[in-house]
Amino acid sequence: MRVGDTVRRPMRPSSPAVHALLSHLEAVGFDGAPRVLGVDERGRQILTYVSGQAAIRPLHPYAVGEEALAGLAALVRRFHDATESFVPPPDAVWEEGSMEDAAPELVGHCDITPENVIFRGKKPWALIDFDMARPTTRLFDIVTALRHWAPIADPIDRDPLQCHLDVGARLRLFCDAYGLPARDRRRILELSRLRFDRSYVAMRSRAVTDGGGWARMWEGGAGERIRRAAAWLDAHWDELDAHLR
Ligand SMILES: Nc1ncnc2c1ncn2[C@@H]1O[C@H](COP(=O)(O)OP(=O)(O)O)[C@@H](O)[C@H]1O
Ligand SMILES: [Mg+2]
Repeated sequence: MRVGDTVRRPMRPSSPAVHALLSHLEAVGFDGAPRVLGVDERGRQILTYVSGQAAIRPLHPYAVGEEALAGLAALVRRFHDATESFVPPPDAVWEEGSMEDAAPELVGHCDITPENVIFRGKKPWALIDFDMARPTTRLFDIVTALRHWAPIADPIDRDPLQCHLDVGARLRLFCDAYGLPARDRRRILELSRLRFDRSYVAMRSRAVTDGGGWARMWEGGAGERIRRAAAWLDAHWDELDAHLR
């Protein structure tokens, strides 16, 4: 809920750790995230409202363009460089969902969907909604962003303006704008595949054990969309891979 220049959101078990992260980002001068202002009298977290436009669906032409993708990659790079020096509090509780194949190297956003990116002047300006933030790797955070923004998805599940995009060229564009080393680019498809398999299993189990929004997402076809995305990735592997070598 928006209240003046602030946003009020319910506290979650991970909120204290997320607030420590947001305070760190502020301390190191990263301005692409909301500031945390505390907790209100109703026990809700108070964050600054980031003015601009969230890239909600259906996506506008500017949000699917190459400039936006390159701008997003640069924003994610600045975010990673800023979060790398963050030392989480010893009692930090993060949202569960670890799917990485390697030891964490920083606390990532882990949910860089269009809805969680605020544009200003048609350029990606800030990341919001750090609920899913947790220790991860740069590459895993990038793979999640590419899943939504390249996008790595079956065309029938894409937003209308994303249907005819050249995904391979966009993977490369993102990597170039981020400055991702060659050895990391070569792992993007393999890690995307791993992430699909692990997120399918994780979402199914959360739908059963947590119910609520997770169950609704699952009933709404989230699992089938993951399966279709994985099949689309397999079918286009060589063509996509050629852009990452
Ligand atoms: N700090 C913020 N600044 C500006 N807009 C925000 C902020 N927080 C949330 N919003 C708006 O509210 C929408 C949903 O908020 P979000 O925090 O992403 O919640 P959810 O957990 O439901 O995804 C966002 O897509 C954005 O439009
Ligand atoms: Mg959100």
